[in-house]
Amino acid sequence: MTPAQLGVRAGQTAPEWQETAREEDKRMRNGELNKRVNTFDVDAIRNDFPILKQCVHGRPLVYLDNAATTQKPQEVIDAIVRYYTETNANIHRGVHLLSEKATKEHEDARKIVKRFLNASSTQEIVFVRGCTEAINLVADSWGSENLGPGDEILVSNMEHHSNIVPWQLLCQRTGAVLKVIPIDDAGDLLMDEYQKLLGPRTKIVSVVHLSNALGTINPVREITRLAHEAGARVLIDGAQSVPHIPVDVQDIGCDFFAFSGHKIYGPTGIGVLYGKRELLEAMRPYQGGGDMISSVTFEETTYNALPYKFEAGTPNIEGAIALGTAIEYVERIGLEAIAAHERDVLEYGAQRLLETPGVTLIGTSRHKASILSFVLEGVHPHDVGTILDQEGVAIRTGHHCVQPVMKRYGIPATARVSLACYNTRGEIDALVAGLKKVVEIFS
Ligand code: ALA
Repeated sequence: MTPAQLGVRAGQTAPEWQETAREEDKRMRNGELNKRVNTFDVDAIRNDFPILKQCVHGRPLVYLDNAATTQKPQEVIDAIVRYYTETNANIHRGVHLLSEKATKEHEDARKIVKRFLNASSTQEIVFVRGCTEAINLVADSWGSENLGPGDEILVSNMEHHSNIVPWQLLCQRTGAVLKVIPIDDAGDLLMDEYQKLLGPRTKIVSVVHLSNALGTINPVREITRLAHEAGARVLIDGAQSVPHIPVDVQDIGCDFFAFSGHKIYGPTGIGVLYGKRELLEAMRPYQGGGDMISSVTFEETTYNALPYKFEAGTPNIEGAIALGTAIEYVERIGLEAIAAHERDVLEYGAQRLLETPGVTLIGTSRHKASILSFVLEGVHPHDVGTILDQEGVAIRTGHHCVQPVMKRYGIPATARVSLACYNTRGEIDALVAGLKKVVEIFS
């Protein structure tokens, strides 16, 4: 199968992504969309991000690699500086003022995350290094105690390697079996096949909310409902969704939800695992060390209460605090306003990309956001990326840590544009002008 058979090609009509988040996004469809696009002050938002003011290779930076990591607003940078300037101390242990202050700020950040995800308790919010660690924690701690030989784990064909490999490792340890939900040419999950795969041996379904390579938004409520009917648990990889879609873990009904701070304008090295309290209570610790214990003797250790049972060692204190600041920043703009703005830029981007001869869009689900993956006939994506870089345009090229997606489409790599709240139609114009140069060089 060639990519040309699969995607939307140059000269064809750009797809319309009007139903971004299906039932999760109903409020977007009631006419508020245009109002929001019109009142969204992208210049003011851009002004919050100091890095965007720079030039690269003598050109204004056009940063379109947000699925890899987002840039940080000044207030997030300030939160880190302020922490080290005014607060720095270890948490949970000290009786002195700085330790109490650091502990309060750290735990206040947990409250912000709880509100952001609509979890029912801060005990359900575990700070981890990132989404990858969150998934490994569940696979290791929950998986090792709940899976045995012949039990099944369902993932989808569009999973990031971080939502495949931890389960493969678990399969090696337990004798469980990994099964894969296929996708269609547009990049949508085949829900009929999913239902056929669900069975009495299915113990957990672990799927991505928003695909980093295709942009597909999966129907996570429906996926969860069906999995629960089959008696399986559900983990949602929200690494790419949280900066673009309002998430309500109680509404989704999932058992676990994972995301990384750095993809939502926060720092690297901090992320979140949400887990239903009764599941986390029953799970054994993931790592041993300080702070996760209640008492230790050489004979026996008892563990701390949730969520500290899963937070061994001195955590990334300033990371958690600055993640809280990043979430408050996003909440102030409003995720629905961000989604509407990004959808406008996404549709404009698709339309403009398809003006370039030889472009094929990969990932054309009607339910998508933020991602434009494409191939350019006769040019390797790395060459596209390198030439665009000289024009000041930063995109990502390669397999995006989703090699099974590349295999599904019969391609080694794509060039990927990924949007954030600060991107503009003007930046899409700069991208397309750069692509014209790529075509000229290779023609
Ligand atoms: N998973 C990140 C990406 O999609 C690194 O670029």
